[in-house]
Amino acid sequence: VFPGLRAQARSAYARRDWRLAAERARSVLKQSPGDRESLRLLARTIAREGKASDALDFYANLGPDGMEAEDLFLVGKCLLGQQHIEAGQNALTMALDRDPKHAESLNALVELGLKSKDLLEAAGRAERLAAIPSWEVRGSILLGKARMVLADHAKAAAAFERALRLDPELRGTDEAPITVRKNLVRSFLAVGKPTEARTQLERIGIGGNDPEVFWLLSRAMLQQRQVDAATKALERAGSFGRDHPETAEPALFVGSAKCTGCHTDICRSQKNSHHAQSIRTGDQLKEWALPPSPVKDPYNPDVTHTLAHEDGRVVLTSRVGDQTLRAFVDYVMGSGNRARTPVGRDESGAMRELRISYYSDAAPWDLTTGHTEKPEDSHAYLGMPQSADKVRRCLACHTTTTPSVAQATNAKTPPVGVSCERCHGPGGNHLDAIAVGFPVPAIGQPRLSTPEQVVQLCGQCHSPPNPVIAPTDPLAVRLQAATFPWSRCYTETKNGLSCITCHDPHKNVETARAANEAVCLACHTAAPPSSSSSATELASKPDRRHAASLPAGAKRVVCPVEPARDCIRCHMPVVTTPLGHAQRFTDHYIRVHRETTKPESNSASPTERVGSASDRVRREAADQSPNPTTETAATRN
Ligand code: HEC
Ligand code: HEC
Ligand code: HEC
Ligand code: HEC
Ligand code: HEC
Ligand code: HEC
Ligand code: HEC
Repeated sequence: VFPGLRAQARSAYARRDWRLAAERARSVLKQSPGDRESLRLLARTIAREGKASDALDFYANLGPDGMEAEDLFLVGKCLLGQQHIEAGQNALTMALDRDPKHAESLNALVELGLKSKDLLEAAGRAERLAAIPSWEVRGSILLGKARMVLADHAKAAAAFERALRLDPELRGTDEAPITVRKNLVRSFLAVGKPTEARTQLERIGIGGNDPEVFWLLSRAMLQQRQVDAATKALERAGSFGRDHPETAEPALFVGSAKCTGCHTDICRSQKNSHHAQSIRTGDQLKEWALPPSPVKDPYNPDVTHTLAHEDGRVVLTSRVGDQTLRAFVDYVMGSGNRARTPVGRDESGAMRELRISYYSDAAPWDLTTGHTEKPEDSHAYLGMPQSADKVRRCLACHTTTTPSVAQATNAKTPPVGVSCERCHGPGGNHLDAIAVGFPVPAIGQPRLSTPEQVVQLCGQCHSPPNPVIAPTDPLAVRLQAATFPWSRCYTETKNGLSCITCHDPHKNVETARAANEAVCLACHTAAPPSSSSSATELASKPDRRHAASLPAGAKRVVCPVEPARDCIRCHMPVVTTPLGHAQRFTDHYIRVHRETTKPESNSASPTERVGSASDRVRREAADQSPNPTTETAATRN
């Protein structure tokens, strides 16, 4: 009976009949409680049934001996299910070490990589998955998705095409064929292949009433310069896309030089902004002013660093004791307004963020933020090793196109800093639209977006990739798009203000505080400013720029301490981070700072003045409003 039972358990598991497999494994264990194979099979079935904590307990008892790829995969899935992302990821990686072709592990890791933006790694793994029999379709779709986010649209198209060719129904995947085909259409449009895009649209079937199909058709026809047909298709697309006016178009990148002739003023100011200058590479590096003499390592007297121009390149030479190490700079990130950090390769070709950065203050050449003071390995005196994805992520936030590292270093046109097409999306369709008189500009229009959408757009770079950051984190102030939304000014006004209420995205920050304080006063005066239109009118205007507005009927709260000026100093103070140097930021979590707020010139003690003034305002508010401020204020204290 015994060997038969075990074989039955095994084959039930292979048929994915978890219940039967578990039952048979238990029967074996009744006769032979220590039978390792059955214990393991039982653990697997428990994990497969989704009982994560039971399965993990079971595996803990089993011990690490003889864990196969399948077990490590299941442990990884259970950990992920419990939100232990890093541990889960490690288990999945170990599963692949054990069996590089373990399809489910590859699949799970690619999905994680797509989420965490480890896209180069995800693409590599998806490529491997796409070569495993019966996983080709799924692997190709994932590969297409990774390539699409990498803006490698030609390769994305090839991957989506392969999936649809292998199985037009995409059986065994949880993808709808129409979604994948639409992605294929977008990839074709992004590389300027409207004919191929139209062929795919015809496969989907034009004539139904899917507005997205008509919208895509309008773009394909626009690229073919068939303006009448494109306009008709656009009409049939109805309101498609209007909910997200900032969305990037499926179009060719054309470069910001193309925009200058028509948007002269915006281009001029944008070009000189820190955004546009937040990277240097290629020939631009020749003009980088380097330290005139070797820099002593700030934490090790036996180490010196020399940065020098050599044959058109910038080279870092670090002397560590009697060792001489070299690295070649590929990019310098940061405009220099606060800092500049070089990223390059050591002599083995490995990418490193270099150890010495430039800072715009009294100690200009110093340890790069976040680096270990005393590295163990002498090569780490050149800088911290970076995965290709890490460097790609720097580029994604500091440049306009988001190419892979290999592409970026070999490209004929090196990446530029954050410019037009990073925020507005590629401009190819726009140039066609303007040329033929298409009814819409066919480019991202964040001007028409909701404040939430604008915060999200800016948050692509101005918030952490992982949104969990606490107000108590001393580094939170660097991430304005994470901290600003904590403000009650934002949460309690429903579309009342966003980043672009205070910032012109094409210029550097406005340092004249009165300009920003006018924004505060639009909401924080006893009566709406008489000259401008009423609050409700502002709120209903589609153009959100500079429109700070309270929702209709909201109560107007006035500062009890200083009702007319100087708001920023007290409510958005400049904060020095523990990072040292010029790393001071403006706290965008607009609130009352009891710890730092001091009236400027007043003989009464701060608390006295604050106390009496706020009592007065609260009383006034209570008189006017059926919903007195006193309550909210009291509960907050
Ligand atoms: C040939 C002139 C021309 C060129 C070149 C041009 N634009 Fe435009 N752009 C226009 C015109 C005209 C409009 C207004 C269209 C309308 O209102 O429908 C416009 C509108 C826009 C808008 C929408 C503004 C809004 O919110 O309503 C953006 C964004 C934009 N252009 C960005 C760009 C970028 C980026 C480039 C370079 C890639 C560029 N433009 C190149 C003429 C041009
Ligand atoms: C692609 C990434 C990216 C996006 C998207 C982005 N930013 Fe930035 N932003 C940066 C980087 C990088 C810097 C630092 C520039 C430097 O090196 O000094 C910066 C700097 C700034 C600054 C400081 C400028 C100064 O005077 O020094 C402001 C203000 C700003 N961004 C606002 C915005 C707003 C508002 C948006 C959304 C409309 C936005 N950013 C979207 C990457 C981005
Ligand atoms: C998620 C987007 C993002 C990534 C990834 C990113 N940066 Fe930045 N970086 C920014 C933004 C935004 C700023 C501007 C901060 C500010 O002024 O508020 C900035 C500023 C800087 C600065 C100027 C110093 C400062 O604090 O203003 C340097 C130097 C820099 N980054 C280097 C790098 C390097 C090197 C990498 C990769 C290892 C990298 N960044 C990755 C978004 C990013
Ligand atoms: C950091 C993101 C960012 C960058 C970079 C950027 N824009 Fe904008 N742009 C926006 C946002 C957000 C708005 C809407 C707010 C506004 O109009 O000020 C906007 C608005 C516009 C408008 C409409 C303005 C109007 O007055 O109608 C045009 C045109 C435009 N951008 C063109 C450009 C061009 C050209 C470039 C490159 C030189 C560029 N943008 C770079 C974010 C950006
Ligand atoms: C209520 C007005 C207001 C809003 C809304 C606002 N900012 Fe700011 N921001 C400021 C002020 C004021 C400064 C500091 C200007 C100075 O240096 O004097 C600033 C500075 C910055 C800087 C420079 C670095 C720093 O922290 O000093 C960045 C980057 C920035 N803002 C990004 C954003 C982004 C992104 C958003 C939207 C999520 C946003 N801001 C929303 C008022 C605002
Ligand atoms: C779009 C309208 C709007 C704008 C603009 C605005 N606020 Fe507010 N703010 C509000 C609302 C609404 C509340 C909540 C008031 C209440 O009910 O107590 C609030 C609350 C506050 C509070 C109290 C926060 C707390 O934690 O109790 C402070 C302080 C404040 N705002 C300061 C400012 C400053 C300073 C500015 C300009 C930099 C500003 N606000 C801009 C609407 C706005
Ligand atoms: C000298 C520092 C200082 C200045 C300047 C200042 N405030 Fe205040 N503000 C405070 C303090 C402190 C409180 C808390 C008072 C209390 O609750 O007793 C406060 C409270 C507030 C509140 C919340 C009131 C309530 O009842 O909930 C708002 C809104 C506000 N300030 C807005 C502003 C605006 C707008 C400006 C600029 C016109 C401004 N403040 C200027 C220190 C200041």
